[in-house]
Amino acid sequence: SSPGILQGKKILITAGPTRERLDPVRYITNRSSGKMGYALAEQAQKLGALVTLVSGPVTLSAPEYVNTVLVESAADMYDAVMKHIAGQDIMIAAAAVADYTPVHVQEEKIKKQNEQTELHLHKTKDIVASIARLKNKPFTIGFAAETQHLEQYALDKLQRKKLDMIAANWVGQVEGGFDSAVNALQVYWKNGQKTFTMTDKTRLASQLLVLIAERLDA
Ligand code: C5P
Repeated sequence: SSPGILQGKKILITAGPTRERLDPVRYITNRSSGKMGYALAEQAQKLGALVTLVSGPVTLSAPEYVNTVLVESAADMYDAVMKHIAGQDIMIAAAAVADYTPVHVQEEKIKKQNEQTELHLHKTKDIVASIARLKNKPFTIGFAAETQHLEQYALDKLQRKKLDMIAANWVGQVEGGFDSAVNALQVYWKNGQKTFTMTDKTRLASQLLVLIAERLDA
């Protein structure tokens, strides 16, 4: 790759799942290893960027020379991103944020009772869409992990969330996606698109960062 293409750029990356507490022993979460976000943070740092990584609970260790902020819930992630967003040139939202969170966190363990039960959930705030609405918004990249209609859903998210770029990948296929060390990406922006074929997430991360640097200059 080309060292230094992100020299001095400030970049904020979200990674991993979020964890939404139901009671002291239970939570709702999304399937996400955090590998893609951590690979992006590591590679961006190597390309000369000043990196802030806001991460949900993962088993990966914090990348060297990266300002890593650990959070738990979608609300915590929103607050941490808002706290660090000023002055950022680029934001990449690689986190699998919970779309819904329990309306009430029960203080005591919920007891087993009826055959059927219901959970009351409300929507979480969309972090990347909130960033893309800011007046001094950074170049904003989102991810779309889909099991069907990849292009259609990705283009819809690009527009609806007012993103500068979206990186879409299939999940639930034989290769790539969750937990995997490899992935493939279909990247879309307003007037273009690019395909990155199946490769390890480290290489994929630098390919995506090179494209971001190009689009940033364009
Ligand atoms: O709508 P969906 O969750 O599929 O969109 C995925 C993209 O939006 C990802 O980039 C994800 O990190 C971001 N997102 C977010 N805040 C949310 C939900 C999703 O930043 N509450």
